[in-house]
Amino acid sequence: MSFKDEIAKRRTFGIISHPDAGKTTLTEKLLLFGGAIQEAGAVKSNKIKKGATSDFMEIERQRGISVATSVLAFNYQDKKINILDTPGHKDFAEDTYRTLTAVDSVIVVIDVAKGVEEQTEKLVEVCRMRNIPMIVFINKLDREGKDAFDLLDEVEQKLKLKVTPLSFPIGMGYDFKGIYNIWEKNINLFTGDSRKDIEETIAFDDVNNPELDKIVGQKHADKLREELELVTEIYPSFDRDAYLKGALQPVFFGSALNNFGVRELLDCFIEIAPQPRPKESDTRLVQPDENKFSGFVFKIHANMDPKHRDRLAFIKIVSGTFERNKPYLHVRHNKNLKFSSPNAFFAEKKEIVDISYAGDIVGLHDTGNFKIGDTLTEGEVMAFKGIPSFSPEHFRYINNADPLKAKQLEKGIDQLMDEGVAQLFTLEMNGRKVIGTVGALQYEVIQYRLEHEYGAKCSYENFPAHKACWIKPDDEKNEEFAEFKRVKQKFLGKDKHGQLVFLADSEFSIQMTQQKYPSVKLFFTSDFQ
Ligand code: G4P
Repeated sequence: MSFKDEIAKRRTFGIISHPDAGKTTLTEKLLLFGGAIQEAGAVKSNKIKKGATSDFMEIERQRGISVATSVLAFNYQDKKINILDTPGHKDFAEDTYRTLTAVDSVIVVIDVAKGVEEQTEKLVEVCRMRNIPMIVFINKLDREGKDAFDLLDEVEQKLKLKVTPLSFPIGMGYDFKGIYNIWEKNINLFTGDSRKDIEETIAFDDVNNPELDKIVGQKHADKLREELELVTEIYPSFDRDAYLKGALQPVFFGSALNNFGVRELLDCFIEIAPQPRPKESDTRLVQPDENKFSGFVFKIHANMDPKHRDRLAFIKIVSGTFERNKPYLHVRHNKNLKFSSPNAFFAEKKEIVDISYAGDIVGLHDTGNFKIGDTLTEGEVMAFKGIPSFSPEHFRYINNADPLKAKQLEKGIDQLMDEGVAQLFTLEMNGRKVIGTVGALQYEVIQYRLEHEYGAKCSYENFPAHKACWIKPDDEKNEEFAEFKRVKQKFLGKDKHGQLVFLADSEFSIQMTQQKYPSVKLFFTSDFQ
């Protein structure tokens, strides 16, 4: 198979959802279809179970699990599928945002009873901003939930998507009869038997066929006919180009737990989902089927064993092939590096491989060379764009609690920030360090890891910030910018890349600043250039 064919058969995607909507269950069922695992229960959820949020060992254990399930790869029909795992817990949302820079499409899982939840809104917004193609899977149809049309409305309004259902439920909860597959024009009857690998489907080119009444009962048959008519009236028909541009989102219904509607989703997915997509760098658009390798680091995972501080850097291959023992340019360090044991990921294990293709993820052992966003190439000097930092939601001063271990603390903080565990801001006024996180849980993780991996101790103190705003003045030299810097002195810091950040203490203060200093532009993510 030519290397272009290898690339064309890859489908790299992420599954996103609010915790408990069924992401883990769906992932597992997809793996079952791919023959990658033999039985249900093999994929462990990487979420932190309720009530254990402050249990460090639990966090550590979870981290171990999530290394193993970071990328789940399997073959299905003639496609190579790479599922990139995204942490469900909201405190690790930033990790998920970054993973979304490495996917070519996503599946959004929504709970039929709960509808669109907070975390889904945030994650979909990130995908929407990047025009990532999305398929929506409405899960748990075996339970009583919201009316299908109400849910489609909710998805359109809350997630600001344009949907087109490609399947439609017949009944729901106790009365759930099955699903009409608009895409394949057949009916899948629900038996509630999760042990079945593949449900039997009945072809139904024409829903007006009286056979339908016999199969699902007249009441359900009539209702389905009415609903399908409404679907054709209200929603646009599926258009692959629009889907690929992120302008139209197909919707499927099913029950992951019962393995119902999952095959339909997967079959449609491999037909419509994009192969590896081109990616913008600071100099040009890079095409996946270019001969030369390029890729970027989107995730860094610390080793579980504190005695070995090496880490695994996850690289998304953007173009060409990645080969073992071949020298590649680490662009930021302007240094050639060779990797003797690149890991590729299969269902639940990782293995050393000689060659990987655009669309794949390789895990490289790293002793501190990499940071999130780094680019590797076959010699070309360029950097991939688009691993933004989002404004943290919590801010605390970090203090050294053991004066003899200042160096260790510094090194630990530096490396943890490279991994993207949290963000560090150094205050302009006095050089004090402020750590910003998406969730309070990270402070405990940082403290624990600093102590166990670096032998350093830290304490925290509240810093009264509400949001980090990256700053770009229209003119560095104008009076307005100088005044802004003078007045806001106490709230200015530099992020890890040396960019100036305004740590605003309230929404009100952000608004006032925007009014008072209109030439100083505020941005809520770091990739505004
Ligand atoms: P997550 O990764 O999105 O957080 O969700 P996960 O798959 O862990 O599913 C959350 C809960 O929802 C699980 O139950 C799971 O069994 C259940 N679930 C998933 N899909 C369906 C479905 O189609 N129908 C029904 N009725 N339930 C579904 P749990 O009790 O929290 O966990 P567990 O002890 O069963 O693992």
